[in-house]
Amino acid sequence: MSTYDVAVIGSGPGGYVAAIRCAQLGMKTAIIEKYSTLGGTCLNVGCIPSKALLDSSHHYHDAIAHFEEHGIEIPGEVKLNLEKMMERKSSVVSQTCDGVKFLMDKNKIDVIQGVGSFKDKTHINIEKDGETKTIEAKKIIIATGSKPANLPFIDLDKERVITSTEALTLKEVPKHMIVIGGGVIGLELGQVYRRLGAEVTVVEFLDRIIPTMDSALSRELQKVLKKQGIKFHVSTKVKSVERNGDEIIIKADDKKDKEIELKGDYCLVSVGRRPYTDGLNAEAAGVELDDKGRVKVNDHLQTNVDNIYAIGDVVRGAMLAHKAEEEGTMVAELIAGQKPHIDYNLIPGVVYTWPEVAAVGKTEEQLKEEGVKYKEGKFPMRALGRSRASGDIDGLIKILADEKTDEVLGVHMIGARTADLIAEAVSAMEFRASAEDISRMSHAHPTYAEAVKEAALAATENRPLHI
Ligand code: FAD
Ligand code: NAI
Repeated sequence: MSTYDVAVIGSGPGGYVAAIRCAQLGMKTAIIEKYSTLGGTCLNVGCIPSKALLDSSHHYHDAIAHFEEHGIEIPGEVKLNLEKMMERKSSVVSQTCDGVKFLMDKNKIDVIQGVGSFKDKTHINIEKDGETKTIEAKKIIIATGSKPANLPFIDLDKERVITSTEALTLKEVPKHMIVIGGGVIGLELGQVYRRLGAEVTVVEFLDRIIPTMDSALSRELQKVLKKQGIKFHVSTKVKSVERNGDEIIIKADDKKDKEIELKGDYCLVSVGRRPYTDGLNAEAAGVELDDKGRVKVNDHLQTNVDNIYAIGDVVRGAMLAHKAEEEGTMVAELIAGQKPHIDYNLIPGVVYTWPEVAAVGKTEEQLKEEGVKYKEGKFPMRALGRSRASGDIDGLIKILADEKTDEVLGVHMIGARTADLIAEAVSAMEFRASAEDISRMSHAHPTYAEAVKEAALAATENRPLHI
């Protein structure tokens, strides 16, 4: 039987990063993955394919809707080749997954393919094609991730009533895609198909889309997506989803409790994800789950069993690839006897629609709830020369700072390239910058980043320069 210092179950961004860091720290490491490719949800059916399709559909839409204003004329019709777009996406995915395999080999990590299940607290059975092998490990890291959640009354047939996984491989552009859930997946993939020509209707249970983000971002994003032709029903509770041939019929109660009926040919169910521990046999090791099915962990990501840790989507907190990665690094360093730390308040959240939405720290709603006295500085993207040059004038940046100390407490952005701009806010907050600190830093001109400086100026003494 092979023996390891550490065995990691699951090769998503949490698991593979944990394995690399363990190997870097001199531990003999194995990683167990049930699928034939490494990289988990993020690389195979999440971050990477969705961003590939967002980029491709953006190019297509620009060619149809915006080239002309730039003086670019295409003789003849711009045509969509969905098959080729999907092939490109698959090739991006396979290159990225191969990259993880390369990293495993480079770090001398044993990759074992098969479903891992606990035999006891130090032994894992790995089953593949009816055969089982067992390995022993002193420490075990559970990184088994998550799967799409569903509503109890919905029959996910995965043909017409689908999750994000199927939405990433459709063979045709829907005529009318009804999206249940106005969160990250619904809006990103809704925008992909809207750009490709589908009618898209989003049904959201709460009173605003992306409800966990600052409400200023929800308002602006909904306004912009409406302009792009996406329809919204917020405060609307779906009651039934029926399929009749190729037609999907959805019944829901709107905010006035009036029944509405929506008809489409595809329904994307994107109401969140659930932690995934199926087949793990956590009981055999005595590992406890919480009432939401997540593996219970303490502040050191340690389960109730002292040699077993858990990270990423399968534990509490945001279901984000970079959060899983930070936890992977942290666990490896803890096992090696170091004292790492994660500030969960500084994990940024991004929605990769266009305009992009990005945020870090506290929302205005949270500050109000916590009774923190704050001031606000806002700057509209349309006031930037850079935005006018590219034509990306939608959006704004909002900085919330402590009323007395001026320390930045939250930064909320919507606009071109804010997914990248948010890194400046994370750095500033990591070093506990004040709004004035940011306002005195030189930002290259013309860039979208100038809006960060301007919002900081607005937050300091209401002295933005360009509005
Ligand atoms: P996962 O990536 O889910 O990996 C878990 C792995 O464990 C899987 O490969 C699974 O097969 C394996 N596994 C499970 N059980 C076993 C077992 N018993 N034996 C062996 N292997 C097992 N996040 C972002 O930060 N940015 C984005 O842009 C983004 N886009 C997304 C788009 C979509 C459509 C989706 C669905 C998700 C997106 N996410 C994004 C979320 C991101 O994918 C997850 O937060 C991330 O993958 C979590 O990493 P993880 O390592 O915890 O788990
Ligand atoms: P989500 O939690 O972002 O959004 C789900 C939405 O569905 C919420 O707005 C919620 O109010 C709504 N909802 C819940 N029940 C409903 C109901 N019965 N009827 C109508 N609406 C309902 O979840 P989503 O979009 O499925 O994504 C899952 C996870 O994947 C998220 O936690 C996210 O962090 C991650 N992800 C991250 C991305 C990114 O970082 N860019 C991209 C895609 C996914």
